Amino acid sequence: MPQSFDDLKRRARELRQEFEEALGGALDAGALQSVRDRFLGRKAGAVTALLKSLQQLDGEARRDAGQELNRLKSDLEAALTGAQERLEDRSREERLGRERLDVTLPGRPPSSGQRHPLSQVRIRLEDIFVGMGYEVFDGPEVDDDYHCFEALNMPPDHPARDMQDTFYLKGRRDLLLRTHTSTGQIRYMLANPHPPEVRIICPGKCYRRDEPDLTHSPMFHQIEALVVGPGITLGDLKGTIETFLRALFGPQQAVRFRSSFFPYTEPSVEVDLACIACGGAGCRVCKGTGWLEIMGSGMVHPAVFEAVNRRLGKVVYDPDEVTGFAFGLGIERVAILLHDVGDIRLFYESDLRFLEQFPR
Ligand code: DAH
Repeated sequence: MPQSFDDLKRRARELRQEFEEALGGALDAGALQSVRDRFLGRKAGAVTALLKSLQQLDGEARRDAGQELNRLKSDLEAALTGAQERLEDRSREERLGRERLDVTLPGRPPSSGQRHPLSQVRIRLEDIFVGMGYEVFDGPEVDDDYHCFEALNMPPDHPARDMQDTFYLKGRRDLLLRTHTSTGQIRYMLANPHPPEVRIICPGKCYRRDEPDLTHSPMFHQIEALVVGPGITLGDLKGTIETFLRALFGPQQAVRFRSSFFPYTEPSVEVDLACIACGGAGCRVCKGTGWLEIMGSGMVHPAVFEAVNRRLGKVVYDPDEVTGFAFGLGIERVAILLHDVGDIRLFYESDLRFLEQFPR
């Protein structure tokens, strides 16, 4: 313990020197704290001890020494604070250095979903028809016997109404899941009875009691078309369908019309494509025939207009004034042909390995 003023001043100088050496060697927060404890600690600090020893001095000497020691104490405190700030600045810089972004790295593209292949095909079909001036009409999937069969000229004993083919709603013999989008023909004409000119497509889901296999699914998609107006002919039907199929399968695509039967069209035609796999020579895809069935079609049967007029309570679609054509095709069928898909069930299994093969 210093006994005199001079002693005390010398000891203070020594401490300043020791402190500076110690501070110079303190390179992290822990070392800085030990330096603070060693010199300024409340209990064991060297400067604190020296301040306590002031009690041994008297009067003027005590006051002068007190001033000297307080200066020492505040100098040491300032030096410690400065060192601490520099240390914090350095670690902030190091952190920023670590966090720095390398903007020259190649980007990581966000994985965004894509439309289901059936939606892609539906949109493609819609675009072709919208481009020809058609309106897209949406009809309900749950419908009734009248719109699905009766108004389409299917008598009560028609085989298509069979329980074997149609899903009826439980306990509601009057409600069913539509078996085809031809319901859209009736729904549109009843909902838009003026003027009697129609040019619509109606895409959507259909349901039939089919066992799933390579080519069947109890739920599938169709797109229906209906054109009505004065003087619409079979020539319009053929021209429209050819234009549509060539927009879809290419300008050279050969198309064939075969006579057929549907209750709601007269005459009825089945439309075939020259096989897109072999070009018509005959192969596995067309089972050697050279042709692929693609859709049903025909001139709207007068009985259909009459059923609609009866419902409307007035003659809007006068079979003596207007004619029309209609057709319907399966969206899965188009997708299978366009993309050479071997099993219709792949469309409904949500397997990304399949779906990712159809980027937009
Ligand atoms: N509704 C028929 C089916 O589901 C397809 C069809 C045939 C639609 C002839 C029509 C048509 O509009 O005129 O197989």
